[in-house]
Amino acid sequence: MRTLVVQVRPTEIDFEHLDGRHGGPDDLAALADILGHQHTTAHARQLQAARLDMPYTHGTVTITGFADGRRERLHQLLASGSVPEAALTPEAADDWLERAATMPTAFYKDSNPRNFLITDADVTIIDFDSLTLAPFGYDLAKLVVSTAMTTGPLPEDTIRRAADVYNHHPRQRGLPGCSWREFAAWCEFHHILTAPYLGTNGYRFSWHTARPAWTTDILRRFDKESTP
Ligand SMILES: Nc1ncnc2c1ncn2[C@@H]1O[C@H](COP(=O)(O)OP(=O)(O)OP(=O)(O)O)[C@@H](O)[C@H]1O
Ligand SMILES: [Mg+2]
Repeated sequence: MRTLVVQVRPTEIDFEHLDGRHGGPDDLAALADILGHQHTTAHARQLQAARLDMPYTHGTVTITGFADGRRERLHQLLASGSVPEAALTPEAADDWLERAATMPTAFYKDSNPRNFLITDADVTIIDFDSLTLAPFGYDLAKLVVSTAMTTGPLPEDTIRRAADVYNHHPRQRGLPGCSWREFAAWCEFHHILTAPYLGTNGYRFSWHTARPAWTTDILRRFDKESTP
């Protein structure tokens, strides 16, 4: 891995300038492959010692737990009524956070398409501002949702292929990867959390108009199944 840092000053960091384009729908499989590899490697090397519901410290670095801050933000946005057609209630979001607490640990680093700079030769990942612990598939869901919010509804095959390519990595190591239900739930988390940015950052489509119907169907079915 090559570092782009040129100089670190008290309040600023200078980075090398890279000519590259942002990610798009045609890059999803390649980017999913990189994410799956990174998450699986990070889990195998370090994060298997982490619990998703607690901050994890390694040396001088502490990574925030999955629910920390996220739970409040989800509740706040759902209560505001500003998220169009959210497919999760606040209680359902809490259930998913609770379930996530015992899932294998990977990380989130805001995989929106603008945080990948792509050239013919390679892909550079930038912007590590918002690193948190997260379950497998969570950052892949961010990539899918934020790409669809940028360019519009994605072909079904494109999403399935990205998830398959991603899951190949954890499954090769005996980890469960991300199920379709989990993936659908994490897409809804990103719908709620990214909705305030619609109209900025190149987001021209709301996830509720771009999402495939199976993502909301599978969540509804799950809710019914878990009702006693
Ligand atoms: N080292 C770099 N070389 C070339 N372009 C860069 C570099 N770093 C950032 N950029 C460009 O600036 C954009 C924004 O950078 P960055 O992601 O760090 O900021 P941000 O505030 O998180 O913006 P965004 O919400 O768009 O991700 C990137 O998407 C990329 O196009
Ligand atoms: Mg960024």
